[in-house]
Amino acid sequence: MTAARPRGFLTLADIAASDWPAVWDRCAQLEDDRKSGKLATTLAGKTIALVFEKASTRTRVSFEVAAYELGGNSVLITSEGSQIARGEPAEDTARVLSSYCHAIVIRTFGQERVATFAKAASVPVVNGLSDQHHPCQVATDLYTVRQHFGRIDGLRYAWIGDGNNMAQSWLEAAGMFGLDLVLACPEGFAPDPQLVKAARTAQQQLGKGSIELTTDPAAAAAGAHVMSTDVWASMGQESEAARRRIAFKDFRIDGALVDRGDGKAIVLHCLPAHRGEEITGDVLDGPRSLAWVQAANRLHIAKAVLERVFQ
Ligand code: CP
Ligand code: NVA
Repeated sequence: MTAARPRGFLTLADIAASDWPAVWDRCAQLEDDRKSGKLATTLAGKTIALVFEKASTRTRVSFEVAAYELGGNSVLITSEGSQIARGEPAEDTARVLSSYCHAIVIRTFGQERVATFAKAASVPVVNGLSDQHHPCQVATDLYTVRQHFGRIDGLRYAWIGDGNNMAQSWLEAAGMFGLDLVLACPEGFAPDPQLVKAARTAQQQLGKGSIELTTDPAAAAAGAHVMSTDVWASMGQESEAARRRIAFKDFRIDGALVDRGDGKAIVLHCLPAHRGEEITGDVLDGPRSLAWVQAANRLHIAKAVLERVFQ
């Protein structure tokens, strides 16, 4: 008999749509408790390995603080500071880390490397961003929307920019929750068609939601309640930055685009941002932006996800 796989969080769907309200409720509880100085001990005796093969501010620090504030501990493992950069196989790293640590958060390149870690590990693995998905961030974004509007349903979501890891996790969310999502991406920068198809199939099964793809940011923004964007060149695409600056020049969230949205539209950005590229400084730092709340919320999601993978 093979041992049951530990519960992991590689993409949003690793937590069932029906379970997400409880996760977000727990986030709200954790957020309130923190404000009143009450910290949980749900991770007492546990150490979280943070394997970061790419840079990070929010993900790394939120998981470090989350582990500490839940009574646990964390260890940062970077490629250069470990045997990873010298070529130790992912399977061997995952296996050894599993013998010291109780969960692994990994930020890496291909999603297949996240899956390889999860397969070889005997502890839960959490995806802290891959080239294909950023589930911790979109879980946070939905929490932020729910906090602000009191619901995630009945809203029009617009993604403006690259069909990247963030866009693809939004697609997955649209499929799981039946959201109305429109993505405006330049020609040649749309999300993976397989993921679009999977999200549409999920919506058909649910009987609600819509997914539209366009190359017209103004059309996507029309009537939107939630507008999201992200950098034009993601980590690992630095050599494409100049080419992308040209391709994406009309895919910027500025005041005029926000004005096309619903009168109460909010703007999200996972950060880091490039003011003057994908978003103007006045929007990012203005009253419609929830980017700073969104960033702060990463901590509560990190805690709720860590608790969840140990349940
Ligand atoms: N939004 C986000 O994941 O930020 P970091 O790259 O700083 O972790
Ligand atoms: N799409 C960006 C997100 C950073 C949080 C990247 O992958 O670099």
